[in-house]
Amino acid sequence: MKVDAHILGSGLWQAPERDLSSVLLDLNENQFLQQFLARFIATQLQPQDLFTYPNYQPLLEELASYCKVPTQHVLLTNGADQAIDLLLRLLFSPGDRVVIPSPVFSFYYQMLDINGVTPVVVGYEKQAQDFVLPTAAVLDALSTCQGLILCNPNNPLGGRLEAEQLQALVEACVKQDKPVIVDECYFEYLQQSCQDTFSGVSQLFVIRSFSKYFGLAGLRLGYVVTHPESVRELLKVRGPWDINHIAVKAALYCLRNQDELRQAHESLDQIKGEILEICRAHGIVAYGSDTNFLLLQDQSDGCLARTFAQNNIRVSHCSGYPHSFGLLDDMLRVAIPAKSDLKVFLMALISGAQSAAGWGNVKTGRSIMLTAQDGSGVLQDRTDSGCKG
Ligand SMILES: Cc1ncc(COP(=O)(O)O)c(C=O)c1O
Repeated sequence: MKVDAHILGSGLWQAPERDLSSVLLDLNENQFLQQFLARFIATQLQPQDLFTYPNYQPLLEELASYCKVPTQHVLLTNGADQAIDLLLRLLFSPGDRVVIPSPVFSFYYQMLDINGVTPVVVGYEKQAQDFVLPTAAVLDALSTCQGLILCNPNNPLGGRLEAEQLQALVEACVKQDKPVIVDECYFEYLQQSCQDTFSGVSQLFVIRSFSKYFGLAGLRLGYVVTHPESVRELLKVRGPWDINHIAVKAALYCLRNQDELRQAHESLDQIKGEILEICRAHGIVAYGSDTNFLLLQDQSDGCLARTFAQNNIRVSHCSGYPHSFGLLDDMLRVAIPAKSDLKVFLMALISGAQSAAGWGNVKTGRSIMLTAQDGSGVLQDRTDSGCKG
């Protein structure tokens, strides 16, 4: 039997089977909207939402207004993953070469593979505790390639591209009339978009998601913002009903209750700050993040990973990430935990650090008092009490 050679030769990223009773910090899911979403379920859902096909126009209009573009510039997709699939199919042909700064969200590689498109990888560079993308190397690679894929902020690195750098890269693509896909799945945590500068430019394809800030990963809703002519072409490839009715209603509920969403997210920054503080106190390297996750450097013996596993906390192990140039060796990516999971997370973090040989000599001579957010008292971390190792 004949099977497509590109699909046969492609890598495979399979969704993990997870124990959903674990503390789930491995897939950058939003831990902060449980009450908000419970209210949506209790007040908005009807049987009709399950037995009818949805209307898309109201969501398209409100989303366009959220993105500050006309409605015809927006295409709904079944998660940002489908947006990646559709765009690569529309924009590239077998034999094409596409610049892809890496490490980056690895689903791009799989979709490039199955379309017979060659990724031309340009590596981020580590400078102190930052990851920097060398603009000149990207521009150089672009001159012999058919397009560029950027992820801003980057998953798994967590950081953003500087506005001037992003502008220079998009401008180069526009000038050379080559498509540039900018994945902005974590846009809401950064609040900077290349849409602001390049809205309506036909070479620009912005991908967004409702899985992260809006907390709807299970409903599978993403979208593309681009020129209306491309939206028309993409609609030929996307199935007419690929976005489900409940996702449409939930997205409208999110867009209509943004003040409440903002309030629910206030504790995210505070918790992120607390975790960074603990990391500093224990000598654990944590990288700057413009997202809802942090990248932590484990010891080579995996002591942090072990204590997380022992405490039923799932995190993402980044060592095997493709095209990572060693930047992600012994790195763990962890979503910011909900208040209710913070105590168990911090205790695991501290106990992992204290059991590590490399961190054993860190003494700050101070105690950190953490309010246990579930109201069950305080956790006292006496970093001057001596560390093992
Ligand atoms: C950078 C990036 N792009 C795309 C996706 C896929 O998002 P969705 O759940 O909307 O398919 C993710 C999910 O983690 C991501 O991190």
